[in-house]
Amino acid sequence: AKNVGILAMEIYFPPTCIQQEALEAHDGASKGKYTIGLGQECMAFCTEVEDVVSMSLTAVTSLLEKYGIDWKQIGRLEVGSETVIDKSKSIKTFLMQVFEACGNTDIEGVDSTNACYGGTAALFNCVNWVESSSWDGRYGLVVCTDSAVYAEGPARPTGGAAAIAMLVGPDAPIAFESRLRGSHMSHAYDFYKPNLASEYPVVDGKLSQTCYLMALDSCYKQFSDKFEKLEGKPFSISEAAYFVFHSPYNKLVQKSFARLHYNDFLRDASSVDDATREKLVPFAALSGDESYQSRDLEKATQRVAKHSYDAKVQPSTLIPKQVGNMYTASLYAAFASLLHNKHSSLTGKRVIMFSYGSGLTATMFSFQLREGQHPFSLSNIATFPPEKFVKTMKLMEHRYGAKDFVTSKDASLLSAGTYYLTEVDHMYRRFYAKK
Ligand code: ACO
Repeated sequence: AKNVGILAMEIYFPPTCIQQEALEAHDGASKGKYTIGLGQECMAFCTEVEDVVSMSLTAVTSLLEKYGIDWKQIGRLEVGSETVIDKSKSIKTFLMQVFEACGNTDIEGVDSTNACYGGTAALFNCVNWVESSSWDGRYGLVVCTDSAVYAEGPARPTGGAAAIAMLVGPDAPIAFESRLRGSHMSHAYDFYKPNLASEYPVVDGKLSQTCYLMALDSCYKQFSDKFEKLEGKPFSISEAAYFVFHSPYNKLVQKSFARLHYNDFLRDASSVDDATREKLVPFAALSGDESYQSRDLEKATQRVAKHSYDAKVQPSTLIPKQVGNMYTASLYAAFASLLHNKHSSLTGKRVIMFSYGSGLTATMFSFQLREGQHPFSLSNIATFPPEKFVKTMKLMEHRYGAKDFVTSKDASLLSAGTYYLTEVDHMYRRFYAKK
């Protein structure tokens, strides 16, 4: 199979959200901390009638209906999620309900979990399958679904919730450059969920920020080395039209892209312009550790990157700023934002993706964008209105790990076709309905 990649995408996020400005005031944080300091505008969250299963049921059914895909044409379904529901029972098996109803139970794949990275693992599994000798000619389907919630404190504003479904197959408008992947995986306790009675993670925010940047440097180096070997020319930021990052909050994306300029400068000072070189020379001799601690370096790189950030990164920041960190869905929601903003001018361009999951696992990889053939075209994927959902303001308590209850069934905010949770019975079995 040639040009294997993403044929179609669908995103769903809950209509319930809170403006970061209001949350700042409520939390007693200084004005501007969440909006300017973290760079976030709004944060979506699930109420008691929605969860990772209902969101993914909605994303999957609306993707297959919108593109008129026969349910029997799905041969592999992979889910990436770090939200724990039944531990040993995968989220994938919940999604089988809608396929069973159409007579298709011959579907490989289960869930992949490692913090925000599971969606990328799921996507790679599907792409590798289509490229392999075990491919049976049907489509792969990838679902990233998470509800990110934090205990009260500084991490609270960095939550979010969404599900994304992606159809994978050959001749895709979003084609993988499969030989260009750079990974970095190691052991760290920056973010984990050891307390199974709680939905909240244990998080060391400062450590996780440093882990993210270290993983970024390492992946960028691997990626650049592979590119140079394969293409026989030097790699630098200018080789890609757009960069899309996993986005725990927008400020980290700004810092990450700035950091790539420092990487280019260290790798080959002649690859950056004179003004950039002049501003970064004072930092040339820093050790790795010193470079992660240096506020001056952070500020200097952000200044030199400002102009190219607006051109190469900003178009991918819309949904992550409005919806928040969607964990596994975050990177792909950023990519969907890029398609939404730039679909008419993407053909022939290279997009670089950086996926990070705490604990830690990270990969940098790339897409080549092609116009594709109806109905799998960039312009078709781009037709979704993200603003539509981002309206209501409301906070609600979660029912985590509870059993034997029926929900209020107040689905009034949900639009037609949305799945929602109706009941969890005395044996923790979950039931859903479609509005
Ligand atoms: N106006 C403007 N900016 C402000 C204001 C203000 N009133 N107040 C603070 N700021 C700035 C700070 O200067 C800082 O910016 P800088 O980093 O550019 O200097 C930023 O706002 C954040 O302020 P901090 O004091 O550093 O924030 P705090 O330590 O309270 O919390 C953190 C931030 C660590 C990111 C926290 O939200 C967190 O732990 N989040 C979860 C962890 C996470 O997302 N990790 C990332 C990767 S892992 C994953 O995806 C789960």
